[in-house]
Amino acid sequence: MTLAEQFDAITVETLRERGSYKWTAYPNSIGMFVAEMDFGTAPVVDRALRTALDNNQFGYISAPIARELSRATADYQQRRFGWSIAPQRVHPIADVLRGLEVVIEHFSAPGTPVIVPTPGYMPFLTVPGQVGRAFIEVPLLNTGGRYEFDLDAIDAALAQHPGALVVLCNPYNPTGRVLTTQELLAFSEVVERRGGRVFADEIHAPLVYEGHLHVPYASVSEAAAAHSVTAVSASKAWNFPGLKCAQLVITNDADAQIWSEVKGRLNHGPSTIGMIANTAAYDHGQPWLDEVTEYLQGNWQLMQSFAAEHMPALRVTQPEGTYIGWLDWRGYDLGDTPATLLREKAGVALTAGTSCGQAGAGFTRIIFATPRPILQNALEQLADAVSGCRTA
Ligand SMILES: Cc1ncc(COP(=O)(O)O)c(C=O)c1O
Repeated sequence: MTLAEQFDAITVETLRERGSYKWTAYPNSIGMFVAEMDFGTAPVVDRALRTALDNNQFGYISAPIARELSRATADYQQRRFGWSIAPQRVHPIADVLRGLEVVIEHFSAPGTPVIVPTPGYMPFLTVPGQVGRAFIEVPLLNTGGRYEFDLDAIDAALAQHPGALVVLCNPYNPTGRVLTTQELLAFSEVVERRGGRVFADEIHAPLVYEGHLHVPYASVSEAAAAHSVTAVSASKAWNFPGLKCAQLVITNDADAQIWSEVKGRLNHGPSTIGMIANTAAYDHGQPWLDEVTEYLQGNWQLMQSFAAEHMPALRVTQPEGTYIGWLDWRGYDLGDTPATLLREKAGVALTAGTSCGQAGAGFTRIIFATPRPILQNALEQLADAVSGCRTA
């Protein structure tokens, strides 16, 4: 059986039995609202975890295992993206959102709001409040379905709040954009001119489609490296977010000094098996991911052609990376939060676009990393649900 055939054969029943959040939160709906894949993980990761199990590697994290993780992360960034980073500047943390909290607290000017381009990944709008900060939404510009930064608006927000942190998600959740070097440079010039800071969330970096190239933000210029902190993890691409391990890459000396003072509090975050899984994925996981990416591309094509034929008023933004689709339902008369109605009427659980910011009114996110027959069913149920709706 090919990998694609194995994926096709996974059933909703099997997924519900696994008991994940995605498949238990709405027991009567197809779960398409959590950024996880339904495909398990790569055999190399699976083997590394089984070996860890056989060796009883259930202890606290150790320096040798952490060193291996930092080495594997740096090797991967160099091999895939040509970004040279010193392994000593790669630090394990529990997850990317913990990284965001730490970066807001310790690397942005005290009391400043967090600047979030929107639509944005939902927690970017909730994490600031959890650490006592406000946030400012800066809507992206949408030119013919292509989302771009509104640099003037980011400039104005930074001018008002010197030293504030801008969240840069690339590849971009939820729009699926993979930003070009030119876009990143233009963005970095605005931030640099205003003395801002950047949290570069590159968790989706390994998941980029043909014709696009991930460029690490801190690699575009010395200024970008100096004003940013980058968060990465193998957890999205190789599908083990529950194992709790991401990496923070620190690219300036002053930040490295701050990190050495605060890291003690963070050492209890990442798990030993999470580190082992990340290391195996970075070192040996590419062949599996290549096949997965091809399968995802097929899923995306199915979504696009199905929508064109059966839901002509739906606009499907073509993702350049990630397995997150951004669907514009405003062509149908479904109101600001179509996700609610579509869960009730279609039995498909999507993310409400409004939880990605005001710019998401009338939109939903869809996680299309699911077996193709399940995706086909979900699309048919969605088409049935909107078939009687008035078009706007
Ligand atoms: C852009 C982005 N950042 C962060 C996360 C969460 O990562 P973690 O579980 O490592 O906090 C996700 C999860 O979907 C994501 O899409």
